Amino acid sequence: MATQLTTHQTGADSAIERLPRVFSGIQPSGNFHLGNYLGAIRNWVKQQDLYANTFCIVDLHALSLATTREGLQENIRNLATIIVASGIDPEHCTLFVQSDVAEHSELCWILQSVTQFGELRRMTQFKDKSGGQDESVSSALFTYPVLQAADILLHDAELVPVGEDQKQHIELTRDVAHRFNQRYGETLVLPRPDIKEEGARIMALDDPTKKMSKSSPNPNSYVALGDTPDIIRRKIKRAVTDSGSEIVVDPDKPALSNLISIYAILTEQTPAEVQEAFVGKGYGAFKSDLGDVIVAAIEPIQRRLAELDASPEIIEEVLRSGAVKARDYARGTMIRVRDRVGLGGF
Ligand code: TYM
Repeated sequence: MATQLTTHQTGADSAIERLPRVFSGIQPSGNFHLGNYLGAIRNWVKQQDLYANTFCIVDLHALSLATTREGLQENIRNLATIIVASGIDPEHCTLFVQSDVAEHSELCWILQSVTQFGELRRMTQFKDKSGGQDESVSSALFTYPVLQAADILLHDAELVPVGEDQKQHIELTRDVAHRFNQRYGETLVLPRPDIKEEGARIMALDDPTKKMSKSSPNPNSYVALGDTPDIIRRKIKRAVTDSGSEIVVDPDKPALSNLISIYAILTEQTPAEVQEAFVGKGYGAFKSDLGDVIVAAIEPIQRRLAELDASPEIIEEVLRSGAVKARDYARGTMIRVRDRVGLGGF
């Protein structure tokens, strides 16, 4: 059987010069926010010409928390539209929906056999999301990081551009891939996280000790991509700040530092430069400018969103052709994996 395998299927690297492979994913769980944009998608867009990119709307992951059929369908469509409106070029990147490629679930099961229970118990996201209720949450929430490992390893990703909160999951992916390779021989590529210094951890506007999150019950804690300019400006005005009045980056002023960091990324400055520009000006002037900066960044995306929403067949075609490309690649990896493990084949 192995004699018929192609280079991709055998895992041997081609001599032809090629771009490094990138994979990243995002859950269709509603309320796409500024943290998702600054921590992930903005970087995907900025770097898309440097890599061979695969981006995935991870609908199977979204099932780990309760969903409805209509809600999930709407979220998948909206998220795909947001990703394209944000600047991902479907001609250059593969964009697809996870459940359209059954190999993700298959590899997840195989990887569960080399993942330790204790490793999953140590995942901080499980502890956060289960809220200590581990008797009643779905077991999918517990095994979620194995599916994430399968996503990455199936596409031979070398780099995974994500926010800080995903670092532990990428480290687990490396450990699982390493263990698999030790048991079955070199098969899977060990990925590295690509986490930028700026924007990797955008904090909630109402509480700088918590990250900005899609699942927050308080809509004032995040700027959603669909917020109108008025709402954005109001949310920034209401954002908590620390005591004092000067615009300074200071670890003892986490709320202000978070806002400065958002301002700095969107205006392509360093936080020190932002601090310099606001010497002698108070919180009021800073927040008013920050509101304008966010609105200016989001408005062109919203305009493209409206155009794409008017022609839904564009996104449908992007996802259909993305699934064909992703399935094709995944099939090759699974031929290699099944062969190494000794599954089926008769
Ligand atoms: P998700 O859907 O929660 O978030 C998508 C991306 O947004 C980043 N992010 C943030 N960055 C900065 N500040 C924040 N407050 C913030 N909140 C979210 C996340 O780090 C992420 O990059 N498990 C993943 C989805 C996933 C995945 C994958 C990612 C599934 N398979 C394979 C990479 C590779 C998740 O729930 O992301």
